[in-house]
Amino acid sequence: MEVKQAIRARVSTRSFLPDRVPEEMVNEIVQAALYAPVGMHRFDTLRITVLQDKALLEKIRLAAVKASGDEHADPLHGAPLLVIVSSSQEGDIAGANTACLVENMLLCATDLGLGNLYVRGVLAAVAADEALLRELNLPEGMKPVASAAIGYATKKPEPRKTPFNDVTKVDYLG
Ligand SMILES: Cc1cc2nc3c(=O)[nH]c(=O)nc-3n(C[C@H](O)[C@H](O)[C@H](O)COP(=O)(O)O)c2cc1C
Repeated sequence: MEVKQAIRARVSTRSFLPDRVPEEMVNEIVQAALYAPVGMHRFDTLRITVLQDKALLEKIRLAAVKASGDEHADPLHGAPLLVIVSSSQEGDIAGANTACLVENMLLCATDLGLGNLYVRGVLAAVAADEALLRELNLPEGMKPVASAAIGYATKKPEPRKTPFNDVTKVDYLG
């Protein structure tokens, strides 16, 4: 798939099949993250956690249940794969760097025919849970900032209206 096609085809999936993502695809997705731009070349501030363990994915869901008080909270929508990008930096730069890695993964997953979703909301609850952070094997000072939930979508996503985003104003100067 051409890059331009993947950019246009990417759409959030919020209903995944439980089927495991083949290892070659997982590796391709992780490679895509590693090619992302990173501010000031600080690749050392980032860590990628590839999560497919069902029990651990359930613990992440339970962190959302605890934080929201909603027993039906399901931030990963059944995705069998969550790739978390953590950062040792604070503020905007951590958000910007991790977003670059995640977007690369979403586009790669789209190219591979996999459903995908940018997941950020639940990570605050994960970051606040010391026991869960230990289970994620994150070194001291590394906090999860952004993630990509990936898997086979239960159904083909609806095609988007073109242009989809007619809300963001674009100024052409000069
Ligand atoms: C920084 C960021 C955080 C997001 N966090 C979540 C999230 O936690 N849960 C979720 O369901 N979608 C999340 N999304 C997905 C957006 O809701 C989605 O991209 C947006 O509604 C546009 O829809 P589209 O992805 O289908 O184009 C996030 C997207 C971005 C860029």
